[in-house]
Amino acid sequence: MKLPREGLSKNAVLERLDAFAANDLPWREGNTFAYVYDPGREAEEVLKAALTRFMSENALDPTVYPSLARMEAEVLAIAAAHLGGDENVVGNFTSGGTESVLLSVKTARDYARAERGIAKPDLVLPVTAHACFHKACAYFDVTPILVPVSGPSWRVDPAAMEAAISPDTIMLVASAPQYAHGVVDPIAEIGAIAERRKLLFHVDACVGGWMLPFFRQLGASVPAFDFSVPGVTQMSMDFHKFAYAAKGASIVLYRDKALRQHQIFTGANWTGYSVINPTVLSTRGGGPLAACWAILHYLGEEGYLGFARNMLEATRTIIARLSALPGIEVMGKPDFSLVAFCSDEFNVFTIPDLMKARGWFVQPQLGFMGSKPNIHLSIDQAKLSKVERFLDDLEACILQARQLPPPAVPLGLLERLSALRLEDLSPALFHQILAAAGASEGLPKETASINTLLNVLKPEVAGALMSAYFNELGVQAR
Ligand SMILES: Cc1ncc(COP(=O)(O)O)c(C=O)c1O
Repeated sequence: MKLPREGLSKNAVLERLDAFAANDLPWREGNTFAYVYDPGREAEEVLKAALTRFMSENALDPTVYPSLARMEAEVLAIAAAHLGGDENVVGNFTSGGTESVLLSVKTARDYARAERGIAKPDLVLPVTAHACFHKACAYFDVTPILVPVSGPSWRVDPAAMEAAISPDTIMLVASAPQYAHGVVDPIAEIGAIAERRKLLFHVDACVGGWMLPFFRQLGASVPAFDFSVPGVTQMSMDFHKFAYAAKGASIVLYRDKALRQHQIFTGANWTGYSVINPTVLSTRGGGPLAACWAILHYLGEEGYLGFARNMLEATRTIIARLSALPGIEVMGKPDFSLVAFCSDEFNVFTIPDLMKARGWFVQPQLGFMGSKPNIHLSIDQAKLSKVERFLDDLEACILQARQLPPPAVPLGLLERLSALRLEDLSPALFHQILAAAGASEGLPKETASINTLLNVLKPEVAGALMSAYFNELGVQAR
């Protein structure tokens, strides 16, 4: 692929882009149970207008764009109040949950270095905490100490968290809720441990933190999970998920400025302009911030309560119907509109392919440390009007999946792979595995074989394989 010598017309460019999207799942029809959070057409128009209005303004320098400084301050104030914070709570608008978590871990590391002289930091987190904490550990040279979590509650045991603390622990982590099974960890108990052991405590409310208070207003039982809990020192919360903002919208919050100070990077030791970066990114388009401010004000409390009502109703309908199906287990008792189900009787990894053929996306999750292979559903407000049709299709696919032969992966290969160590993964074996998974060329047509294979591998081998696969994908346009 080469840059065209002469530019195309606006129409030709837009036609090409539309053609690229032809195979994407139609999320506007409410068909994707992950990745997209649909506020409806009218709200989408508001997002688009705000996004493009501030597309070119640069949050790198708030002195030049006071508009962005003001919007960030207002979004922060709304978020802090929404999460039980007082006037001392500070934070920053970021590009997503991962950036918020990266910043929080980096802040904890630098705080521990400065205040406690810790040179080899570790972080205590449940296995249900989002993978972005592992990414933060990898980026900032922090050792993750994983605390196992088991069913049926899928909430971490506070005593197990405390037992994992070492003299080098810089922070405890818990989720409200965790993504995989949608349950809230025991935040108050862990907060008490953090206070007693004088540790920082991050509550990751990325996926559900915005909506949980609205669920509570509607009578759902939601335990205290935010700055109202003593011991919570920092939080992350995404707007681009269930606050229905445009993508690129999250927030990291700290109990006070003294802690946030360790987040900020400045660079005056070069020949160019003075760099003051509170966040990972330096140049930041104003669009996502403006769209976030816009949707909060467009929907208001009433709008979000309406969305919360839709989410609760759709989730309850889905859980009731799934729980009644023989051989299907809904994992835990979700506190939020995230539902995972598994089965001991057939390979659930065939369900996403069968559902895709009917126009739906549902998300496979690999088995890990006692959490069986399962299918995850993120249920946004737009799902309510589709829920019966979705459930009819899902039930039909589950019946069909039960009848299917196991995915066409040679059995011997599965056994061999389950014993595979990282050092055994040769390029030849890598290509053999890709071929067995039907993923030798470009994006795979079906995912059951791939997930069945990945599921038997040791996590570090699966990780190496996925990274090698993605490394290959990048070169295909040549
Ligand atoms: C609990 C939790 N934390 C963090 C993240 C990471 O967020 P992002 O994908 O915006 O980087 C997610 C994403 O689903 C999440 O569910």
